Amino acid sequence: MIFNYNMVLTATVLAFSMMSIDAAAPVVRRTCYTAGTVGTECKQFINNFCNSVTANVAFGDNQERCYNTPNFKCDFGAFYEFSADAAPPATIPSVVNCINTLNNVTNTCGGFGGFGNVAGGGFTFTLDPNQGQCGQLEAPGS
Ligand SMILES: *[C@@H]1O[C@H](CO)[C@@H](O)[C@H](O)[C@H]1NC(C)=O
Repeated sequence: MIFNYNMVLTATVLAFSMMSIDAAAPVVRRTCYTAGTVGTECKQFINNFCNSVTANVAFGDNQERCYNTPNFKCDFGAFYEFSADAAPPATIPSVVNCINTLNNVTNTCGGFGGFGNVAGGGFTFTLDPNQGQCGQLEAPGS
């Protein structure tokens, strides 16, 4: 069998189309907040937050983290909410699901923040810009 340029090209195109199926965007289910502080700057903390939840989270519990910007704060959370098992073991959330969900929130919620998850994942992730700085009390409705 003699390989020619077209065969190599075909093989390359096939390899790429199979890759793009694997890399297909996950199904993100998310809900946007529709009022409050607008803060697309919170996007810069997504990777850090999603990589910071390295301890097991108990079912029904959450892990939270807060980041300051000069003018407001960004509250992040990972809540272990869904399981087929009534008493599932504590586990660590998926970094990839966290990043995909919070990127979706950033790109589609007009800066208000929101929450969501990737279909099949047990964790709900939240990104919420709020008035003030981390550790301060919040004004109601902020
Ligand atoms: C974000 O999530 C919404 C709601 O599930 C979905 O319709 C939309 O396609 C997602 N967008 C991106 C960029 O992932």
